[in-house]
Amino acid sequence: MGLLPLALLLGPAAAAAVKPTPRSRCRGLVKKFKQGMVDTEKKNFGGGNTAWEEKSLSKYEFSEIRLVEILEGLCESSDFECNRMVEEQEEHLEAWWLRLKKQSPDLFEWFCVETLKVCCSPGTFGPDCLACPGGTQRPCSGNGLCSGDGSRQGDGSCQCHMGYRGALCMDCVDGYFSALRNDTHSVCT
Ligand SMILES: *[C@@H]1O[C@H](CO)[C@@H](O)[C@H](O)[C@H]1NC(C)=O
Repeated sequence: MGLLPLALLLGPAAAAAVKPTPRSRCRGLVKKFKQGMVDTEKKNFGGGNTAWEEKSLSKYEFSEIRLVEILEGLCESSDFECNRMVEEQEEHLEAWWLRLKKQSPDLFEWFCVETLKVCCSPGTFGPDCLACPGGTQRPCSGNGLCSGDGSRQGDGSCQCHMGYRGALCMDCVDGYFSALRNDTHSVCT
């Protein structure tokens, strides 16, 4: 059973819970696009490595034809929202494919973070994608979750894992003892 019938069975609250956000839609689209790039790689070629094949392959690699093939595979035909999003964003995706891919090879960053502004890079949060406390590499010192991490929402505050507390989740709660602590790492046991 797919997600939608289940949601219908469980009522409106569950339906709201599984409805994709713009953010998850964008992530999903990028994932499908990357899969499309893999699927169309070397398509239509026998792998004979003739000079002719090499030349046609490099032509196809960045071609509009390949883009169209990738776009066609992005949505199930019944997925209305997905098809609408692709239709709306076709020009963006085409611009990236034909011109911008070289300087901005990360489609997620270019499309979801910079162009549509529905996501933030990992380790950043909020409308302006500010760095999470403790830095983007190890938000909340690796001991908690940064509110809004990867989204345009949240306030960046740390929800610490069990045993930790403090703005950066560096301190130990009562009953836990500090096994290790330096400027960036803290282990409470
Ligand atoms: C802090 O401790 C961690 C874990 O042992 C270690 O990897 C890191 O290099 C240490 N950092 C500093 C600044 O000493």
